[in-house]
Amino acid sequence: MLEVKNVTVAFGGLKAVNDFSMKLVQGKIHALIGPNGAGKTTLFNTITRIVNPQQGDILFKGESLLKLDTHDIIYKGISRTFQNLQLFQAMNVFENIYSGLIHKYNDSIFSVVSKSKSNFDREARDKVLEVAEMFDIKNRLTSYPSGLSYGMLKRVEMARAVISDPDLLLLDEPAAGLNYYETEEIKNIIQMVNKRGKTILLVEHDMNVVMTVSDLVTVMNFGKKIAEGTPEEVSNNEEVVKVYLGEDENA
Ligand SMILES: Nc1ncnc2c1ncn2[C@@H]1O[C@H](COP(=O)(O)OP(=O)(O)OP(=O)(O)O)[C@@H](O)[C@H]1O
Ligand SMILES: [Mg+2]
Repeated sequence: MLEVKNVTVAFGGLKAVNDFSMKLVQGKIHALIGPNGAGKTTLFNTITRIVNPQQGDILFKGESLLKLDTHDIIYKGISRTFQNLQLFQAMNVFENIYSGLIHKYNDSIFSVVSKSKSNFDREARDKVLEVAEMFDIKNRLTSYPSGLSYGMLKRVEMARAVISDPDLLLLDEPAAGLNYYETEEIKNIIQMVNKRGKTILLVEHDMNVVMTVSDLVTVMNFGKKIAEGTPEEVSNNEEVVKVYLGEDENA
């Protein structure tokens, strides 16, 4: 469904992504792991057209994404969350989730805050409620981000990404900053979303999450793919172990 073909992204002399290729299989959870600075977020930003590659191509359902702008990506059925939460602070939870749908209603982000709830399109409102129920945040719809726990915020952001009903969901470190219980919740949510037919590309440092939920794991280091396989294969791979032990030594 998504095919990254020999993509290179350079910032000045630094090749953040270096002749990197990977293929996602429809309906699977595919993890992309690697040490800090490996190029994982840069690859996400290339797929979502925030960053332009110098080389290579990215095909989604057989069609190149490179000719698209970042705001076109959602129409193709791709949605994401961010490593650093990007929720709208001036909007409550309902409005933040709703903002994941505005492209469908030809609406602008500014009109979301100025509308009273009763003016929201009925269908859109029902969708927000349905997704809020799925993510167990229905009783927080009138709260503002500043009043919510980090675990709750992560769920709101994922709800906003899922409400557009994407075929492919890109999650950049969904468990970062979460405590044990919040991490268990997010694991269940990732699996639940996947069971509802969404293909997931997951960037995550928490190996417990990666090993539990992933069907396939790709390991990246210095912009290059160094290993790929099932969670078990990858965790027994010598080079992968070296990279992760090396990281520990430096820590
Ligand atoms: N906009 C940019 N300008 C210059 N360098 C950048 C830019 N974005 C990323 N980099 C560099 O590219 C490399 C890859 O960064 P990236 O954020 O993709 O890594 P990552 O694998 O997501 O790391 P982490 O696990 O810490 O999030 C790093 O060396 C980073 O400093
Ligand atoms: Mg990153």
